[in-house]
Amino acid sequence: MNINYTNLAENSRNNIGNHELALAVLEGLSGKPKKLNSSFFYDQKGSDLFQQITELDEYYLTGCEFNILTKEKENIAKKLAKDPFNLIELGSGDGRKTFVLLDEFINQTLDFKYIPIDISKDAMETLFSKLKNNYDENLIVEGLVGDYFDGIRTLVKQTKRKNFVLFLGSSIGNFNHAEAEKFLRQLWYVLNPGDYVLIGFDLKKDLNILHSAYNDTKGVTSEFNLNLLSRLNETLDADFDRSSFMHQGVYNVQLGAMESYIISTKKQAVKIGDLDKEFTFKPWEGIHTEYSYKYTQSEIEMLAKDTGYTVINHLFDSKRYFIDSVWEVCKND
Ligand code: AVJ
Repeated sequence: MNINYTNLAENSRNNIGNHELALAVLEGLSGKPKKLNSSFFYDQKGSDLFQQITELDEYYLTGCEFNILTKEKENIAKKLAKDPFNLIELGSGDGRKTFVLLDEFINQTLDFKYIPIDISKDAMETLFSKLKNNYDENLIVEGLVGDYFDGIRTLVKQTKRKNFVLFLGSSIGNFNHAEAEKFLRQLWYVLNPGDYVLIGFDLKKDLNILHSAYNDTKGVTSEFNLNLLSRLNETLDADFDRSSFMHQGVYNVQLGAMESYIISTKKQAVKIGDLDKEFTFKPWEGIHTEYSYKYTQSEIEMLAKDTGYTVINHLFDSKRYFIDSVWEVCKND
């Protein structure tokens, strides 16, 4: 099988270093209000739990995007059939959705290479074992482990192929509007005019639906959020008592985002051994752990325009809960 990956960063890591985590926790728990970044969710257990979230009916996002790609795969393939291209995926995900496109492109014998890019070597290796189980020599995979933009820059220098970049799953939702714009401009800068991007956006909708998606009845999202405390217990020698904290997902109307909190249900102190420091919690004090921004169609269109892209198409699922928005990079006009 024609499959390999390159490690871009010499100091590439299986996981974020403990030092980096410790500093972020010191910053985040010393501040008012307390906060921790959602990027820290994804240790092995956290990635497993997120996978379980995507299988919940209440967490409609994954199913909607699967529905979109299944409905639209033929049209997408048709659009890309003219020229050889790189199918670049930012964040390798679990493959389930991407495999819909890979299958279609292979069936249509399109001339393409699949380039998953991920900062985590572990995530890349998990993806590779799935690829090896599902594909034969008809699929060319050239993965890149490292920073997304370093990865694309390296790639674009090496090939004249058209690039088609996937950023699926509403990952962009973790960015606030300024961060999203910055991310999209960085992407624009490393791509060529005429390249395409497909970005998954979750739409603003009935707040009850949003609320259920982030407060599921099986408590998987709660496990996912509170797993952060277990991670700190294990890796930073902390002594969080998980039973005196609870998960809550709430919609912030002004931001247009779901927010996740870990809330202390009583007055308590927590010791973090690696920081040699104690943090106190007032009763019902929260730690902010995640933003999941939601969009309207016109907000998506404005974002594209402001960052240098032309919207080609909005691909909706049948419930119209989610958009995969297809944009073309435009330069010099
Ligand atoms: C992986 C960032 C898209 O924000 O919906 C799921 C993570 N958090 N349930 C999201 C998540 C709580 C998810 N993203």
